[in-house]
Amino acid sequence: MTRQAVDEIKIGGIGASRKRVEDDRFIRGKGNYTDDIVLPGMLHMEILRSPLAHARIRSIDTSKAWDIPGVHLVLTGEMMASRNLAWMPTLSYDTQAVLATDKVRFQGQEVACVIADDPYIAKDACEAIDVDYEPLPVIVSPAQALAEGAPLIRDDKENQPDNVIYHWAVGDKDGTDRAFEQADLISKLELHYPRSHPSPIECCGSIADFNRATSKLTVYMTTQAPHIIRAAVAMVAELPEHMIRIVSPDIGGGFGNKVPVYPGYVCSILASILLERPVKWIEDKSGNLISTGFARDVYLQGEMALRKDGKILAVRMHTDADHGAFFSDAQPSKFKIGLMHSAFAAYDIPVAHLTARGAYTNKAPGGVAYRCSFRVTEAMFFQERMIQAAASDLGMDQAEFRRMNFVSDDDFPHRTPFGFLTDSGQYAKCLDVGLKAIGYENFRTQQAEARANGRLLGLGISTMTEPLGAGNSREFDILGIKMFDSAELKVHMTGKAILRTGAKSQGQGHETTWAQIVAHELGIPAQDVVVEEGDTDTAPFGMGTYASRSTPVAGAAVAMVSRKIKAKARKLAAHLLEVSEEDIDWELGRFYVRSAPDRGVTIQECAMAAYSNMPDGMEPGLENTAYYDPPNLTWPFAVYIVTVEVDPVTGVWDVLNMVAVDDCGVRINPMIVEGQIMGGLTEAYAMANMQFITFDADGNCVGANYMDYLLPSAWETPGFELHSEVVTPCPHHPLGAKGIGECAAVGGPAAFVNAVMDAISGTGVRNIDMPLLPDRVWDAITSRRDVSGAPPVRTDE
Ligand code: CDP
Repeated sequence: MTRQAVDEIKIGGIGASRKRVEDDRFIRGKGNYTDDIVLPGMLHMEILRSPLAHARIRSIDTSKAWDIPGVHLVLTGEMMASRNLAWMPTLSYDTQAVLATDKVRFQGQEVACVIADDPYIAKDACEAIDVDYEPLPVIVSPAQALAEGAPLIRDDKENQPDNVIYHWAVGDKDGTDRAFEQADLISKLELHYPRSHPSPIECCGSIADFNRATSKLTVYMTTQAPHIIRAAVAMVAELPEHMIRIVSPDIGGGFGNKVPVYPGYVCSILASILLERPVKWIEDKSGNLISTGFARDVYLQGEMALRKDGKILAVRMHTDADHGAFFSDAQPSKFKIGLMHSAFAAYDIPVAHLTARGAYTNKAPGGVAYRCSFRVTEAMFFQERMIQAAASDLGMDQAEFRRMNFVSDDDFPHRTPFGFLTDSGQYAKCLDVGLKAIGYENFRTQQAEARANGRLLGLGISTMTEPLGAGNSREFDILGIKMFDSAELKVHMTGKAILRTGAKSQGQGHETTWAQIVAHELGIPAQDVVVEEGDTDTAPFGMGTYASRSTPVAGAAVAMVSRKIKAKARKLAAHLLEVSEEDIDWELGRFYVRSAPDRGVTIQECAMAAYSNMPDGMEPGLENTAYYDPPNLTWPFAVYIVTVEVDPVTGVWDVLNMVAVDDCGVRINPMIVEGQIMGGLTEAYAMANMQFITFDADGNCVGANYMDYLLPSAWETPGFELHSEVVTPCPHHPLGAKGIGECAAVGGPAAFVNAVMDAISGTGVRNIDMPLLPDRVWDAITSRRDVSGAPPVRTDE
């Protein structure tokens, strides 16, 4: 046999734009989603939700529902309470009502459940339940919640005298105060990042199947984090983990919406235990929009201390976050407002201070990390809106102001003003690539000419650096469980393999890319590696997929477990080649004798030997597990630049061009990375332009349907020009990769808003809150005043 190195791209290794293997079943309609699962004897559950946002429950009469043929069980809060299940712990150390007992605290809250032969009977029976409500005053914003004398929402909690969930502060207050005293100019900005909803195509759902004979509970469900759910079920139901199996089959999008524990899961589990039959609950679209984890809803007061030459001396930020009636989003315990303090990580700012307050309101629980690493979307939006305002206040060029304040390439690792340590980056280079691609100078000339003719053109820049890969376990835990991840690799005797991880893909393509990492490390063709995730009985323990943590953490674990396998394969190779380990070298897919390179054995031959011809004393088999606790977060960087034209008569704005320059280190699968960026930019455009979901003064959710909360289609989404020429490997990730899944959704919105603000510059308007609906833009142009998106508050009381 002549020596021939394996071509990594041909075997689908790192850098190959391998087609997604999971798409084979998805595009044929052969995916296996929770609602596709039908179990023998399965019953169906529907939830009765509160029509009111805040009301005392005087009584619940379920007698008519029980009388409907086909109804097996009607659950109320009282019945849950008798089993100590009326309340459950949340992932943020709060409690949440499973079914309301005393009061309802938001519109859409779960009040009762019916389990019946089919979902239609269950729905009819829900409507037959008679609930007598006594309406209470409603709170729809933190300002209202925190005002003196505000009605108390969480009167169920001891030691909860007001509606404050937390006060949190980070940074150097005194140093920041001193820096502000030295400032030539202080730039201020107030704005609201509105509520938005991840709105995955597939709603939440679960099928609980309790087997009395074995005492084992199996739950098929749409969760992004199966092991966290198993831990939560173990705590709530007081069942040991080995008696609980959580299976997350194919998921039709998660985006953070499928991390929290929802009451529907708990009710379906209890119903299955009581009835000893499988119970399926599949949420409908409006149920998903009005009751499950919302994102954002944060108010900012930001200030920047500036020197007149453009140097940023300090930043001061205060945020008020609206968490709704329960603090139930998954949050790393140490960071009450998520990673909001990752703001300004890309800028060389000596000192900063952030204060944050969380408030209860009469709204569905919110604050989930919708396609972002725990509030980073808000952080980057505030950062880039403040940067734009500051550059305008200084009369400086937007691009130049950013460039002069960027952290320079030779200043890594860099300590951010809030204390993070960033890993690597080439920020100015990314900006240059973006400016060139958009034709910056040329556009500014066109813009001036258009202005002279009454046309409003604008250019918006946004940069983002996102801390991806929670943990490390030193700083990150949820409910005390440290954040790390895992991979288990079993190589069969034929050299084919099965890989399992603690992550859980919801469309990101893990089945494709994890196999590519194995191919890169071991030379086993990617098509010979099958990837499984989402079953707690088989997958190693991991914290799941959200916050773009999979590649930085589970992906690293895949590399590390492959290296353990390779170390054992090397011993097998030495045995087969009858030389010592020190005398052999590796080329992709093959060990060979250093002094006689034509004498070698392939990884497949080593695998066969692990089962048929291992050296004396060696444990048979070729399998291993790796738990990876990252030393730090990975910090990808991006520049997004948008040009728009605003119609001054109608306020309608159109995107002329958009350029995205993403540096996520080494790209495992460049095609999948581009898909992630395209998807993120589409969501960013939707948030900035069209997605409207808010509340009226009575707490009614406005926009809880897809006529108002618009999902962008290919028709209205503009084209995006993607650039991949800047690659700064992550110095501590075993493959040099950084996360990418969320970056464009995180950094994109500010680019669109900044572009519209640039187009209407000269009107004196400092801010229009998203979504930039035509009426809001028109209002700003004609009134020459800022336009707020905060929900209206009742003033007649
Ligand atoms: O955690 P999540 O999977 O949502 O995000 P991610 O780790 O950023 O990965 C999203 C997808 O992009 C996965 O299939 C990754 O393997 C892929 N990816 C890549 O090919 N190269 C990177 N540097 C980062 C992600």
